[in-house]
Amino acid sequence: MEVQEALIKRRSIRQFKQERLERSDLESIANAGRLAPNASNMQPLHFIMIDKPSVTKGITGNIVWAKYLNDWNPPTDKLPVAYILILVDTRITNTNYGYDVGMAAENIMISAMGFGIGSCCIASINRKEIARILKIPKRYVVTLMIALGYPAEEPLITDAKHSITYYRDEKGTLHVPKRKGTIHSIPHNLEE
Ligand SMILES: Cc1cc2nc3c(=O)[nH]c(=O)nc-3n(C[C@H](O)[C@H](O)[C@H](O)COP(=O)(O)O)c2cc1C
Repeated sequence: MEVQEALIKRRSIRQFKQERLERSDLESIANAGRLAPNASNMQPLHFIMIDKPSVTKGITGNIVWAKYLNDWNPPTDKLPVAYILILVDTRITNTNYGYDVGMAAENIMISAMGFGIGSCCIASINRKEIARILKIPKRYVVTLMIALGYPAEEPLITDAKHSITYYRDEKGTLHVPKRKGTIHSIPHNLEE
């Protein structure tokens, strides 16, 4: 898939086919995170690949899915089949790692698209419980979780003229409003 096509077509996927990912694909996707740009080349991030069904189940229960869809959870036959958790090693840095995490997450999601794999980046997670399940030592900060699997839904972009709240229509299709008018030339017309 062309880079431009992947960037434009990527949507957060929250319903997945129950087909296991090739371990080598998952490793390539995690590796794309490892190679992402990062401040001062300090590389404070670690990536935990999770694809054992007994473990993914425990992770899924510690996630807040799609907050605008009030109490919506992926149906049990459409759960993520894998996750990548991004950790920060506080022995390397304890500050300003948010940019690094964001860039690694986007690399992971775009790399996944190259394999036809859908993803959703998730910040609303029970970090304490996930650290316990995965036996993460205290020196690592648990940051973003990225859910992965072959897509079982096809969200659509709409114009965010009236609201940025994503919603499902009567057929169950997710509509994701995106703001227009956020790209500017100089002189710009940004309001004070
Ligand atoms: C930093 C970050 C945190 C997010 N956290 C969650 C989350 O906790 N739960 C969830 O279902 N989606 C989460 N998302 C996905 C966003 O809701 C999604 O990116 C947004 O609605 C735009 O949709 P799109 O990714 O399809 O463009 C998160 C995305 C980002 C970038």
